[in-house]
Amino acid sequence: MKEAKVAAKTAKDPKSTSRQDLEVDKAQATVGNRFCENPKMSMRDVNVFYGEKQAIQDVSVDIAKNEVIAMIGPSGCGKSTFLRSLNRMNDTVDGCRVEGEVLLDGDNIYQQNLDVVELRARVGMVFQKPNPFPKSIFENIAYGPKIHGLADSRVDLDEIVENSLKKAGLWEEVKERLHQPGTGLSGGQQQRLCIARAIAVSPEVILMDEPCSALDPIATARIEELIEELSQNFTIAIVTHSMQQAARVSHRTAYFHLGKLIEVNPTERVFTMPENQLTEAYITGRFG
Ligand SMILES: Nc1ncnc2c1ncn2[C@@H]1O[C@H](COP(=O)(O)OP(=O)(O)OP(=O)(O)O)[C@@H](O)[C@H]1O
Ligand SMILES: [Mg+2]
Repeated sequence: MKEAKVAAKTAKDPKSTSRQDLEVDKAQATVGNRFCENPKMSMRDVNVFYGEKQAIQDVSVDIAKNEVIAMIGPSGCGKSTFLRSLNRMNDTVDGCRVEGEVLLDGDNIYQQNLDVVELRARVGMVFQKPNPFPKSIFENIAYGPKIHGLADSRVDLDEIVENSLKKAGLWEEVKERLHQPGTGLSGGQQQRLCIARAIAVSPEVILMDEPCSALDPIATARIEELIEELSQNFTIAIVTHSMQQAARVSHRTAYFHLGKLIEVNPTERVFTMPENQLTEAYITGRFG
């Protein structure tokens, strides 16, 4: 009923649609293509709470192997919260509780006794603000492989560092100054360093939370190219406020609104023919 009312209003005069008219229906189910045949990760009925407050409500969705999935939606809708629940980063947030299942290759990452450090090596994360360690460029990359015992010798380590920097498209710019501080790089270079650091431990999934929001258009374009290259080897979930970016880099797009997953569809479909009015209102800039 409510949906029909919104549709009628939207058709008459799109500009008159107020935020209130677009309140998410409590019984709203996700529309679109949520599930896939060969999921790398499967989320089922995920609910996330901060104390009493619910930030994510009944989200079920798969992420396919080698897929790039974009997560979009208005500020505060729960994108970062949901992303953090995919590698138990929410464990580090006081008062945060996650319910439901998050499966990685079919195994629930919330099972007891799971090694969270190993999990975060398999499901790596790149944050909004580049956060290199206060160490050399070399050490920024070498740290993870060392603690995970991925390198038997110095030669192995050199090779991992070089390969990770190459995959992150940074090698040529830093090969002469590997032993200088990572914090001395430009913002865009620091973000590629953080991507190289995530890659160095051979993750299977990379979560990116607005990885380009602190970067200029050239550095952003470089990271976007990189995402496309990386998707050949990794599965990527990226949160972005840039719809152009979502359209450029992702295969499917997930639209969140007030803690609910409203729609998941192939990216082209979401930006040309969204299935839900809320998605449409957001992508046409009527709110958000
Ligand atoms: N540590 C926290 N403690 C309490 N509430 C929180 C915490 N982090 C987030 N929230 C709340 O959870 C909801 C979702 O926040 P979240 O940061 O996931 O949104 P978002 O979609 O990533 O927003 P943005 O686009 O602004 O980054 C918001 O209402 C926010 O205020
Ligand atoms: Mg966020």
